[in-house]
Amino acid sequence: MTTTEPLLDVRDVAVHFPIKRGLVLDRTVGHVYAVDGVSLRIERGETYGLVGESGCGKSTLGRAILRLEDPTSGQIVFDGTDIASLKGEELRRRRRRFQMVFQDPLSSLDPRQSVESLLLEGLKAHGLSKGPEADDARLRELVEQVGLPASSLRRYPHEFSGGQRQRIGIARALCVEPDLIVADEPVSALDVSVQAQVLNLLGRLQGELGLTYLVIAHDLAVVRHVSDRIGVMYLGGIVEEAPSQALYDDPQHPYTRALLSAVPVPDPELEDRRERILLTGDLPSPAAPPPGCRFHTRCPWRQETRCDDERPELRVIEGAAQGHRVACHFAEDIRDGRIRPHRVEAVASDDVLAASSAPDLPGSVTEVLGR
Ligand SMILES: Nc1ncnc2c1ncn2[C@@H]1O[C@H](COP(=O)(O)OP(=O)(O)O)[C@@H](O)[C@H]1O
Ligand code: SF4
Ligand SMILES: [Mg+2]
Repeated sequence: MTTTEPLLDVRDVAVHFPIKRGLVLDRTVGHVYAVDGVSLRIERGETYGLVGESGCGKSTLGRAILRLEDPTSGQIVFDGTDIASLKGEELRRRRRRFQMVFQDPLSSLDPRQSVESLLLEGLKAHGLSKGPEADDARLRELVEQVGLPASSLRRYPHEFSGGQRQRIGIARALCVEPDLIVADEPVSALDVSVQAQVLNLLGRLQGELGLTYLVIAHDLAVVRHVSDRIGVMYLGGIVEEAPSQALYDDPQHPYTRALLSAVPVPDPELEDRRERILLTGDLPSPAAPPPGCRFHTRCPWRQETRCDDERPELRVIEGAAQGHRVACHFAEDIRDGRIRPHRVEAVASDDVLAASSAPDLPGSVTEVLGR
């Protein structure tokens, strides 16, 4: 094993949840394709940001990486070992090395336990307890690391503010000395002013402790500021991946362009001129994902019939920055203006006729302005 291999190498991972029917729920009538063929690599010390609309499979992927969910297929190579199929004691021992920070720290912290006992529980669960004195010193160090006073140890989660509770959640993750932290919407429940403090804390800890992060958020602004690289997820798959700056400066996938076009820019002149792509329709159900390119039902650049039939691979496109990959058959043609965007009519998957007779409802049409 060399140190040049990534800490985490996710290879073609799928997580499908069976949909059960019947009196005793013994009949599988379909599947939710929550994660459907995701590959990504995270280098040691790197922060990988994962963004996408609610329901696109971000949390399920994060949970599968931590083996809180069993992958249906694929490999999850963590530090050289495929953990996708590990079980029992071997999995438990590995688990120490990857920890999760949740959106709502209260729901993940037992309200009846003091901070001290929450952290101690973590140490003991992984055999890291070294006797009362050493443990006491370690707990003090932990709360200090996350910017809380030592007196916090005697208090209970409900006595803290949201931001402080997230600091406790982070301390709980850190207490077992992990290598990888999966932070799932770590600041989504916090006030904007507090969000920056918690993100800064994560950044500082990464430097001090050499941590590797997978930061999951539906909010592009959150991942932008903390990520080295970003993956954009849509309906169970990654549609674009790039170094953070390249993704924002030069988004290539129609879905990413639509997401970014929804973020206002402070300069009013630029704001007037910039491209705006309003996405039509809802995210299709992951229980019945569209065939071909999963984005084709909402894509203003969709081309018959390749987009409807053939699922595009994440690939390096000509002339893009290093490490910039896009899952779109026509990325080069779109970028160079050889394909023009067109209107997309909202079609409810179960109500095709109704939609075709009323195509001009507000919000049902994709508009592409500028450029
Ligand atoms: N345990 C489960 N059983 C069935 N469906 C699930 C389960 N967990 C998540 N899902 C479904 O999988 C899809 C992806 O969910 P999730 O990973 O939570 O998305 P995100 O975090 O991007 O909002 C959703 O449609 C969700 O309802
Ligand atoms: S493959 Fe086709 S439908 Fe999918 S994003 Fe590209 S142009 Fe749009
Ligand atoms: Mg989620």
